[in-house]
Amino acid sequence: MAEAPPRLDLTAEDTTPPPSEALAATPASPREEPLPDAARLASLLQRLSEIAGDGQAAVNRISFTPDEREAHATLARWMAEAGLQVETDAFGNTWGTRPGRRADLPPIGFGSHLDSVPQGGRFDGAVGVVAGVEALRMLDAAGIQTEHPLRLIAFVCEEGARFGEACLGSKAVVGLLEPGDLQRLRDAHGVTLASAMQSLGLDPRQLPSVRWEPRALAAFLELHIEQGRLLENEGKAIGLVEAVAGNTRLRISLHGRADHSGGTPMHLRKDALAAAAEIVLGVERLANEPRRRTTVATVGRLDVSPNSITTVPARVTFYVDVRDVDGDRQRAAAQDVLALAQQVAARRDVALEAELVGDSSPVVLPLWLRHLTRDVCQRLDVPYRVLNSGAGHDAAILARALPAAMLFVPSHQGLSHCPEEWTSISDIAVGVRVLYHSILALDRALTEQAA
Ligand code: GLV
Ligand code: MN
Ligand code: MN
Repeated sequence: MAEAPPRLDLTAEDTTPPPSEALAATPASPREEPLPDAARLASLLQRLSEIAGDGQAAVNRISFTPDEREAHATLARWMAEAGLQVETDAFGNTWGTRPGRRADLPPIGFGSHLDSVPQGGRFDGAVGVVAGVEALRMLDAAGIQTEHPLRLIAFVCEEGARFGEACLGSKAVVGLLEPGDLQRLRDAHGVTLASAMQSLGLDPRQLPSVRWEPRALAAFLELHIEQGRLLENEGKAIGLVEAVAGNTRLRISLHGRADHSGGTPMHLRKDALAAAAEIVLGVERLANEPRRRTTVATVGRLDVSPNSITTVPARVTFYVDVRDVDGDRQRAAAQDVLALAQQVAARRDVALEAELVGDSSPVVLPLWLRHLTRDVCQRLDVPYRVLNSGAGHDAAILARALPAAMLFVPSHQGLSHCPEEWTSISDIAVGVRVLYHSILALDRALTEQAA
């Protein structure tokens, strides 16, 4: 699928008009099939990648920071210029609504997120949002008004990298986030989610107002990069997601004793980092056990104190991220990680504190909606395959409350959560085309059902 090297300069062949003009493109005849405009997609992605990014590769658009808000404000501007009714809720989620012919029908939603992990890529989340902008522009170009209203949504704080727990914006709208969580969740600097919100002018006390009514959306579609290598390896353009893995996250702190690295004999040490190292390797070994099948487990962050060359490490805090598409295996593996950590800590005589920072179950997305997107791929003659997602997604959270589907586009070499993350604009354009037709197919199917 990928036809160019990963370091594509998105601006290289960009003849795109600014979004205001782009979104106000001249309507085509309703019978003419509008196609995604690759240059316009590249331009929108480029603009987002310049917010807290170097515009070339890495982005640091961390959740609940002014950078994430700037990305939401940029999207809000694009949507307002396209004539959508734009709203931002008290948690910071942003959406724009295009009226349908039938105001009595709930909107069909689509979109993704605009935050990134530290040193993340330009495509994770952003692709689904710009795809939505472009799909709406195509509808305008074709002069189509759907029966259902349409709603492009950017959820806040999808990445669990900052607060440990992921998909907070979508959890808030379906009622999976409690006021107490805003105090409980804190980042590696001890900043609580509540105070991060306050520093951006968002009022944590308004959390209950963020919750949607049941069936606030008729359905939700999320286009996303695969973040794996199946599509590219098999030459498929679209992945239709069957199940989205869940995750269990632990924060483990080990308290040993700071000592002189020269003066302290080996047998008298309480080295918290040596204990952590043993646990990290144990986590890897455990996840590799054949009986665990689809389990993956990662220690991606480790904070050492005092972090000095000449001091035996006194304290280490690290995070374990256990994921699986099987919830029982996921929880069993997290339990086993905890037991292993306790054994190692006891043997090495270091104190252990463990906290569950997040726990989300795997989700199987509804078959009928996957079939609808499959039929679209078949009709458009777009090669597809059904797959599972190892990464978490807002669509999986929404799926607890309403029908949701995910469309994946290929990730070059499967790389993601890194600056090398890359998907060609032409692959994204195929995704937009499938998204566009899926929205229309869904509008037809749900209208028939409602009749
Ligand atoms: C989101 O990208 C995740 O970490 O699954
Ligand atoms: Mn994502
Ligand atoms: Mn991500």
